[in-house]
Amino acid sequence: MKKILFVASEGVPFIKTGGLADVVGSLPKCIDREYFDVRVMLPKYTCMKQEMKDKLNPVGHFYMDFNWKQEYVGILEAEVDGIKYYFIDNEGFFGGVKPYSDNALYEIEKYAFFSKAALSVLQTIDFRPDVIHCHDWQTGLIPVYLNERFQDNDFYRGIKTVMTIHNLKFQGRWNVPDVQSITGLPAHYFTDDKLEAYHDANLLKGGLVFADTITTVSNTYAEEIKTPFYGEGLDGLLRARSNDLRGIVNGIDYDAFNPETDPFIVQQYNAMNFRKEKLKNKRALQEELGLRRDENKMMIGLVSRLTDQKGLDLIAHVMDELCQDDIQLVVLGTGEERYENCFRHYDWKYADKVSANIYYSDALSHKVYAACDAFLMPSLFEPCGLSQLMSLRYGTLPIVRETGGLKDTVQPYNEYEGTGTGFSFSNYNAHEMLGTIRYAEQIYYDRKREWNRIVDRAMAADFSWSVSAKKYQEMYDWLIG
Ligand code: GLC
Repeated sequence: MKKILFVASEGVPFIKTGGLADVVGSLPKCIDREYFDVRVMLPKYTCMKQEMKDKLNPVGHFYMDFNWKQEYVGILEAEVDGIKYYFIDNEGFFGGVKPYSDNALYEIEKYAFFSKAALSVLQTIDFRPDVIHCHDWQTGLIPVYLNERFQDNDFYRGIKTVMTIHNLKFQGRWNVPDVQSITGLPAHYFTDDKLEAYHDANLLKGGLVFADTITTVSNTYAEEIKTPFYGEGLDGLLRARSNDLRGIVNGIDYDAFNPETDPFIVQQYNAMNFRKEKLKNKRALQEELGLRRDENKMMIGLVSRLTDQKGLDLIAHVMDELCQDDIQLVVLGTGEERYENCFRHYDWKYADKVSANIYYSDALSHKVYAACDAFLMPSLFEPCGLSQLMSLRYGTLPIVRETGGLKDTVQPYNEYEGTGTGFSFSNYNAHEMLGTIRYAEQIYYDRKREWNRIVDRAMAADFSWSVSAKKYQEMYDWLIG
């Protein structure tokens, strides 16, 4: 049995702020259990739901040298859907009202602690992974520490590491003297071929330098990040490591996102009966959100973190124009205040057309995927994107910008060949986006049978984990040798 340990800062069903949690929660379940023993390690955040905290059982604790102090390291465990989870407990670091704070230095300290503790607890829990699979900057120090201090110990020698980039924008940067002092790493680790980048220490860079191999969450993003526009300053390093960098597109949990069994929606449906049944979800959502009740109106959904990454400035730029069209727009999510207020404003200005729901709700997100006709995702960059996959699964046609995973997962409609699962545009330009939305409107209103055939193809596309999980397995096999 090959042993794999996922280490990440969030994972469904315990704690989620974004797509990372969906991947960490769903991929391990899809790795072949006959050959792999996959376990997951997360921080034990005080802000986790009580019902989740109730599932955790204490395993032990010890004190660890960290940042000139002896820090408490508690270990808990839980089992969900046959997957073993471990949790690192330390209230000083994980006691906040949210998993992440705006204090960059504190975040660095928190995840440096988490990374060191994740390695330190392995002997206590008596689990020696063959591969540690690290996710995003929060775990970037794991390959570094493994290279540095854990090599003297037989238990750790030979453990391989994978670093997966879910979002290159976040790197964990802070000045070298502080990071050196916090991590206790020797000075020679802070050179420009190791942790240093642009005069700062950079935790993700450490992971990318010391990991045995690197992955990211789509093929196109794997190519994009080797260019300056998408490379966030690390494109040079990623070009240098391009032989060790591969894209493996994300899947979604096909049990959790299944219009045929979804308990959150008023009318279940499938690829056979969506023409009659899907509409009932639209009617129900119009009623619930106070939009004009008209099942023939084209309804466009947007479920997203409200950040620059998601291309919301394009939408803001043409909102008035878009709202002259015969459409409804349903927004769900939180984020930067200017976007939250922008959507609130248009909700007020076009009350029967726009519904801004500035919070997050799992239940409402499922209703939006089921009720809408189209789903808008004009991202500036998108490592993979999961909501377009959820939309496809629910027969809600994605309208996306051709970047990263959006490009790899949404096939643009071609009216001459009768192919495609959605609509897409290439340049980061508000009117190019608007033109594409209007093209979709035209198909929706004037060529409904064509529209429904696109839905047929969207619902037939397979973005379960089955293909991608095999690619991870092959990679683990290759690494372990
Ligand atoms: C990040 C990326 C998103 C990706 C997700 C899971 O949230 O922004 O594109 O789908 O991670 O990999």
